[in-house]
Amino acid sequence: MIPLVLSLSPRPEGNSDSAAEHFARSLAGPSTFLRLRDHVVAPCTGCGACAKSGRCVFADGDHAEGLFASLDAAPMVMLAAPVYFYHLPAQAKAWIDRAQSRYLSGRFGQGIIRPAYIVLVAGRTRGVHLFAGIMPTLRYFLQVFDFSIQGTVHLRGLDGPRDLLANEKALEAVAALARSSGW
Ligand SMILES: Cc1cc2nc3c(=O)[nH]c(=O)nc-3n(C[C@H](O)[C@H](O)[C@H](O)COP(=O)(O)O)c2cc1C
Repeated sequence: MIPLVLSLSPRPEGNSDSAAEHFARSLAGPSTFLRLRDHVVAPCTGCGACAKSGRCVFADGDHAEGLFASLDAAPMVMLAAPVYFYHLPAQAKAWIDRAQSRYLSGRFGQGIIRPAYIVLVAGRTRGVHLFAGIMPTLRYFLQVFDFSIQGTVHLRGLDGPRDLLANEKALEAVAALARSSGW
């Protein structure tokens, strides 16, 4: 029963990685740390096979299902991601789309709902809708795994890969989010 902390950024040692690592360090206990970019995930082609068999045709060929199993096993999850053109990076969206096989199974919402925490990082300082595209996507993706978003930190104006580490206020916001989880 160890929390899962997952960075969804393709950029090594960037702000999402820093946020995820800082969140993990700010928890009272251990966590499992994963980076999506270390995994191979094929995008959904909408072939419809999972609607009939309940199983994705790519399930044995890549890591999407293994990552879903990590979600299944976690009592709490934290996702950190950058904003790319007002949404998630392509690999993150590809992984999320693969959850369609889980969605079609209908086997969610019946067990214990677990908490999820989100940190999003954007380079821009302005933009009313900067995070508006990502949030519903994450909410409904996580719902399929019986997670409910309990806390969110939206960070703006962090563009260079080390910008978060140089920003005390942002680091404290991430640490406070971790503490708020109670883990
Ligand atoms: C392809 C691409 C698209 C981006 N689109 C946006 C955007 O729409 N809005 C924004 O504020 N920042 C945008 N950015 C900037 C990133 O959100 C910013 O650099 C962020 O810190 C990257 O996080 P990371 O270090 O975790 O990868 C974009 C960056 C890239 C590479």
